[in-house]
Amino acid sequence: MHNIDIEVVEMTLDVMKYVINRITKTSPELGKPKKEEELKALVGDTITSKGIGGEKAFQLFRDVLVKATVPIDHPRNLAFVPASPTRAAIMFDLITSASSIHGAYWMEGAGGIFCENEAMHWLVSLTGMPKGAFGVFTSGGTAANLSALVAARENWRQNPENNDLKGIIITSVGAHSSVKAMAKVMDTEIILVPSEERLHADELKKLFTELPVDKQRRVFSIVATAGTTNAGIIDDLDGVADFCKDKNLWFHVDGAYGGGALLADSVRHLFNGIEKADSITIDPHKWLFSPYDCGAVLYRNPEIAKVAHSQEGSYLEIFKDEGAHGFNPTDYQIQLTRRLRGMPLWFSLAMHGIDKYKWAVECGISLAITAGELITEDDYVELVREPSLSCVLFRRKGWTPEDYRNWTYENHRKGFALVTPTKWKQGDSFETVARFCFINPDTTKKDIADILATMH
Ligand SMILES: Cc1ncc(COP(=O)(O)O)c(C=O)c1O
Repeated sequence: MHNIDIEVVEMTLDVMKYVINRITKTSPELGKPKKEEELKALVGDTITSKGIGGEKAFQLFRDVLVKATVPIDHPRNLAFVPASPTRAAIMFDLITSASSIHGAYWMEGAGGIFCENEAMHWLVSLTGMPKGAFGVFTSGGTAANLSALVAARENWRQNPENNDLKGIIITSVGAHSSVKAMAKVMDTEIILVPSEERLHADELKKLFTELPVDKQRRVFSIVATAGTTNAGIIDDLDGVADFCKDKNLWFHVDGAYGGGALLADSVRHLFNGIEKADSITIDPHKWLFSPYDCGAVLYRNPEIAKVAHSQEGSYLEIFKDEGAHGFNPTDYQIQLTRRLRGMPLWFSLAMHGIDKYKWAVECGISLAITAGELITEDDYVELVREPSLSCVLFRRKGWTPEDYRNWTYENHRKGFALVTPTKWKQGDSFETVARFCFINPDTTKKDIADILATMH
């Protein structure tokens, strides 16, 4: 298995051929899931005592299994937050694996961690955080949010009076489900400002002031969203930052989806105040065109994160020795052994330069504006709200939730598009509506028009 023989050579050539073919396709087949029993019937037993051989296993993947997946980079995949990794980043993801580098400690990973840190310095510069701010790449936004909020909670617990208290996070209904889920992981209470629209400091102040005093003193962090996943809304970051400063609360900004738009001159002003955050989440695997999985967490004061996350162990001591001489990414987030998942971003940035990234992010914003115009001109549909960042919420006049569901399945079944409905909260009620989220610069105006035509 660890020998280099003809089977390994042939397998390698097959893999390279597949990769070249896949990354040069601009419109890959929009696959569909199958039931597990159906897949099993098609591929049979794949794990056997003697192995089925690389050729056979690869053929099953290429001819059957990959067809039961939906490519995230299909230009008419506008569901959830899609993605569109650059070809350079994908190729460098292969190199990241091939190089077998341990990304936890400088002692083992210096050259690779250097690449990640180059990309991280650039990310920090986009936010305008002060000198000394820095961060690390994580497996995604969920892990970044968790890492940041654990740092916040541990920092709060530096005050011994808070040691036995259950902490509270305040955010809004628009916050991503991962913030609520990670609060559960941390056994922390979460209080939501009830509006899905932009979170204003005034609403936050009102909610906070109305809390009983014993609850007020258990609040340790406010989470604002810089680009809600559902609608692309950026909270009042400046106002929330000032509120946090006034109350001595940790200010976390979740820009997992929207953070890429810090690059876009057309919307940069909407992020004003982000530079005052104590921590920020940005997912390069969303709007910075990295392959999965790559999130990032940035800290105003990384030393606080180190106190919270640095792991102790007799076999780990050598890595922290003077001999290691460098930055240890493991100390700033929840994971010990880690892939150098920032390397593909670094390579692609180094190859293409920042201007091309700017252009590609602006494409997503322009596509949302174009979609807004097409929707306004179309008698069958109407905007639910103005497009925000690269998200567009719109309704098909007269449709029920079931109509939206059937429409999604029909377009997917035909292999034409994946566009999914969502719910939009107004007051206490939720309306089912359609949603576009644009990331892929290869999506065209015609793609949007053709999708809208399927609603007629
Ligand atoms: C705003 C926001 N935060 C957090 C997340 C979670 O990120 P991940 O899925 O990378 O863990 C998402 C994912 O869509 C998101 O949009």
